[in-house]
Amino acid sequence: MQQEQHLSLPAPDAESAGHSARVADFLREQIAATGGQLSFAEYMHHVLYAPGLGYYSAGAAKLGVTGDFVTAPEVSPIFGAVLARQCASVLAQVDSPSILELGAGSGRLAVDVLRKLADLDALPERYLILEVSADFSERQKTLLGREIPELVDRVTWVDRLPDEHRGVILANEVLDALPVERFVRRGDGIMQICVADDDGQFVAREIEAPTLLAKAVLGIEEDLGERLADGYVSEVSLAAPPWIEDLAGILRHGTMFLFDYGLSRREYYAAERSDGWLRCHFRHHAHNDPFVLPGIQDLTAWVDFTAVATVAVDNGLEVSGYVTQAHFLVGGGLDIELADFSELPIDAQLKLSGQVKLLTLPGEMGENFKCLGLRRGALEQPAAFTFADRTTTL
Ligand SMILES: C[S@@+](CC[C@H](N)C(=O)[O-])C[C@H]1O[C@@H](n2cnc3c(N)ncnc32)[C@H](O)[C@@H]1O
Repeated sequence: MQQEQHLSLPAPDAESAGHSARVADFLREQIAATGGQLSFAEYMHHVLYAPGLGYYSAGAAKLGVTGDFVTAPEVSPIFGAVLARQCASVLAQVDSPSILELGAGSGRLAVDVLRKLADLDALPERYLILEVSADFSERQKTLLGREIPELVDRVTWVDRLPDEHRGVILANEVLDALPVERFVRRGDGIMQICVADDDGQFVAREIEAPTLLAKAVLGIEEDLGERLADGYVSEVSLAAPPWIEDLAGILRHGTMFLFDYGLSRREYYAAERSDGWLRCHFRHHAHNDPFVLPGIQDLTAWVDFTAVATVAVDNGLEVSGYVTQAHFLVGGGLDIELADFSELPIDAQLKLSGQVKLLTLPGEMGENFKCLGLRRGALEQPAAFTFADRTTTL
């Protein structure tokens, strides 16, 4: 999603404010039930995914101009079209291939990828969607039924990973939606930042970090070759490694394309970035207070791509490439998708050039967003990774 920074937030409407008050009551109950505090990851899990209450579980519009943020597939069908070209090249090299998409949001990416694969005569037999939000699954079914009725028979919604998978795995902005822990370095110790209830207000509270979190932070410091400064605050995803491990476990032959805004470990834990990478989004305003508007604002954290690549390699995958979103699109066939540009009416040209700028300019989504490609088995390098590959920075 595109980053914007504003100091004040718009007021939610009465219905949203009422919903957020119910989410806050639920969080206070959870805090009381667990002895006075939730870990930050538990808090993030509840505000995003508590059944019927969480940001992704309840019914509000989230993506697109009427929602809180815009993702690349929502910006333009060009994103899905270029990605489909990469999928086609992988599918052509794998026996009985299919596509598995995680966290398909509105379903827009699935529509654009399937449409382009049909144009390229490269459709897989099956396109699986694994989505944790029942609300999003319903929206996906409606959108696909409306926009690609002739292809929807190939799409299956699953509620767990298949035992094995051949072909392509796609996830756009899913890693950033996995709950993260927050920590702070204090002298010789590592503290976990938890969420407590102070007379009705959610506040941060530090406790000694549990072993798993402390080990993860010490591992980061070992990689960096130095201890983080006293008072340094950041995040670490304990949910991403098992998620990647599960995906690596099912991928028999094929490539995973993981898109998100993120960095190498060295950039992520740079000394000057001493307050972490947590971001909150409400009606296209980005800020960093996770305690306001619970349940009606999105909470995300940038991705440490070194951590993701390391787990993948430890589980037998190879890195196909690691590139910015702009380089992925340019290397992957953006020029082919724009070949008919000059024949479009002027208003369509203006619209399309605006979309391409948003997807590719460094100050927009072009540079902060990366694609990490992970593969198992013999496969040619997808064209999208042949241009300005940054794997060696991981
Ligand atoms: C920021 S949205 C991105 C949606 C969509 N991919 C897009 O680019 O517009 C995150 C999506 O991931 C889903 N999600 C979160 N955790 C997930 C998980 N463990 N497995 C599958 N989907 C997940 C959310 O419900 C939501 O659909």
